[in-house]
Amino acid sequence: MGLSSLLWAIWYILPAYVANGSPVLVGGGRPIDGGRTWRDGKRLLGDGKTWRGFFGGVLFGTLTGLIQYFLTPGFYGSLKIALELAFLLSLGALLGDLIGSFFKRRANLPRGAPAIGLDQLGFLLSALAFAYPVKTLPSGQLLFVLIVTPFIHWGANYFAYRMGWKSVPW
Ligand code: CTP
Ligand code: MG
Repeated sequence: MGLSSLLWAIWYILPAYVANGSPVLVGGGRPIDGGRTWRDGKRLLGDGKTWRGFFGGVLFGTLTGLIQYFLTPGFYGSLKIALELAFLLSLGALLGDLIGSFFKRRANLPRGAPAIGLDQLGFLLSALAFAYPVKTLPSGQLLFVLIVTPFIHWGANYFAYRMGWKSVPW
């Protein structure tokens, strides 16, 4: 596998990264669970999952696809495919992130506590599954994305922490 196919793999998944990362900057306000608790008495999702973060993430992730199309139209074939792909990657990433938080709360982990594996790959697997019907990657490139995403996730979170955007470096 050449360097260019590895870079195309990152290019493919980029909207999911933007969708997953942008809530740190645009999130806040009313939590999606509205403060409600599950039968275990713990929060359904917690204060870290807000409507603004969710829709802001979907919006910025989808806009990423728009920019990508104008930079590399040949990779997508049509604007419709580029936008559908970016939207599904973004929606999948954010829904996967919500599911992850649901399980973190069930495991008695407070908002913001790390869950190694789930935090780095939950959003990714969900994004890949949602996008699959529109456009996917050859299995070698999918494997590469699965391997590098945890490192990119840690790097991006550490950067956001150093920038003062979040209070923990994970
Ligand atoms: N965020 C948001 N809405 C979302 C997802 C994230 O507002 N749907 C914002 C919150 O400010 C959140 C931050 O982005 O604290 C970082 O996201 P994440 O690490 O996914 O949330 P955590 O705070 O770690 O919460 P959890 O323990 O539930 O994962
Ligand atoms: Mg977190």
